[in-house]
Amino acid sequence: MKGQEWYQADEVAEAYDEKRFSRGGRLIDGREKEAVLHALGPVEGREILEIACGTGRFTAMLADRGADIVGLDISGPMLQQGRERAREVGVADNLEYMRGDAGRLPFPDDAFDAVFAIRFFHLADAPETFMAEMRRVSREQVFFDTFNRFSARSLYNWALPMGSRLYSSGEVEALLDSADLELVGAEHDWIGPYGFYRELPNSLASAFRTLDTGLGSTPLGPALASVSYWNARL
Ligand SMILES: C[S@@+](CC[C@H](N)C(=O)[O-])C[C@H]1O[C@@H](n2cnc3c(N)ncnc32)[C@H](O)[C@@H]1O
Repeated sequence: MKGQEWYQADEVAEAYDEKRFSRGGRLIDGREKEAVLHALGPVEGREILEIACGTGRFTAMLADRGADIVGLDISGPMLQQGRERAREVGVADNLEYMRGDAGRLPFPDDAFDAVFAIRFFHLADAPETFMAEMRRVSREQVFFDTFNRFSARSLYNWALPMGSRLYSSGEVEALLDSADLELVGAEHDWIGPYGFYRELPNSLASAFRTLDTGLGSTPLGPALASVSYWNARL
């Protein structure tokens, strides 16, 4: 598992949101939240599990919208940040954070309506185990994202200390098959990789994003996208 120890450090957890979601990173945060809300649909009263919830940006958002949500992560310091965030935004009583390993989920079969994980599968050396666990505890839906093999992310990956696991569409289809899940929707986005946007001030990032979405909406767009959001059903 890439980065499992990395996210256990207090200083990494404390700097996580600021490092990733300030400057051009705000655009990424907004797009990811849109992807989650679009895939899950109305969440009020739905039982939802977020795998590798980190500092809880989606957990808090879904709690605020009335979901019955549990956020699970292996890192105590990341969850601590999540608890502070939940208190700050007034949803601490509407969610549950739990420390646990996505490879051995502490829930019975069919415990949730939907299970999702964002920015997790790029850390996984053996993704089949995680997908099987997500499938096991879900009654209806599994949603996740991947970084794409044939994209600018491959170049960016070289500059990263841990690297990321990259996926082709065929690998994702095989992963879903292995867990007996059916793909019902996919969105492909971000021709410029996330790391590129994070380096840019907001105004410049917005201009690049306009170019990016313009190119993304051409027939070449899906093939060049560095991120895919996958929506699957049981
Ligand atoms: C890149 S962060 C993403 C956090 C959050 N999903 C987000 O998008 O902001 C990856 C997270 O995966 C968690 N993680 C890594 N291995 C895990 C495992 N085996 N089980 C549960 N969480 C894990 C890390 O602790 C970290 O919080």
